[in-house]
Amino acid sequence: MSIHTGSHYAVVLQSVSASYGSTAVLDNLTLRVRKGERIVISGPNGSGKSTLLKLISGTMKPTDGSIDVLGLRLDNQLDRQRIRQQIGFLTQIQQDPEIAVSVCESVLLGLWGTRFSWGKRPAKADRDKAIDRLELVGLGELAHRDIRTLSGGQRQRVALARALIRDPALVLMDEPTTYLDSAAKEDLVNRIAELHRQLGFTSIIVSHEPLSSLLSDRRIHLESGAVKECREVQP
Ligand SMILES: Nc1ncnc2c1ncn2[C@@H]1O[C@H](COP(=O)(O)OP(=O)(O)OP(=O)(O)O)[C@@H](O)[C@H]1O
Ligand SMILES: [Mg+2]
Repeated sequence: MSIHTGSHYAVVLQSVSASYGSTAVLDNLTLRVRKGERIVISGPNGSGKSTLLKLISGTMKPTDGSIDVLGLRLDNQLDRQRIRQQIGFLTQIQQDPEIAVSVCESVLLGLWGTRFSWGKRPAKADRDKAIDRLELVGLGELAHRDIRTLSGGQRQRVALARALIRDPALVLMDEPTTYLDSAAKEDLVNRIAELHRQLGFTSIIVSHEPLSSLLSDRRIHLESGAVKECREVQP
């Protein structure tokens, strides 16, 4: 059943626990993320950061507790599907397609299953939007290149454009600066900050990097599946 949880929060986790088989990963976690807020999550390897994003995106179910995202409770299939269409998820490990698609087509794949699918070609307006998103991440000139010819850092920016093509209300990013050199890291951080200003989404970013305060209103430190520190970032 859909429930509305008021308008202040984009994400509410209430006493959430999660496990893989008999291995507990998150334990009784409560977290509220305000609409438009930018959260950065850090913590050691294996502390449950990626698991937390999987739970919020509806790709994994909690063993206990409740999760509300964008006013809907993630406890039934239909609501999970509706929510997933409003989330841009940049996952930790990018599975690069080794097929010959253009950079623009690769961005369009972010709309797969919604406005185009097998036998249903993408509309001109969606192609234009893919180009627009590529321009936002600074890759407009590469729109017609074969994706396989791009560098790792360029592919990471394509993945960001793909995550943004649905105009998501909530953007989840898992280690977006992995594989980038320090100049490319700074560039990506500045671009994400600018995209946030332009598009106004709520963002939850997992990162080990001491990322610029440009990306965080609040930092959360996870250890062994529990919040160890949570602090507001002073502008
Ligand atoms: N599919 C899975 N099956 C079984 N255990 C898993 C699975 N995915 C993660 N785990 C385990 O759950 C724990 C938390 O994993 P998670 O990926 O959430 O950590 P993380 O904080 O994102 O780590 P990292 O910084 O290395 O990305 C780890 O002990 C990991 O081994
Ligand atoms: Mg991870």
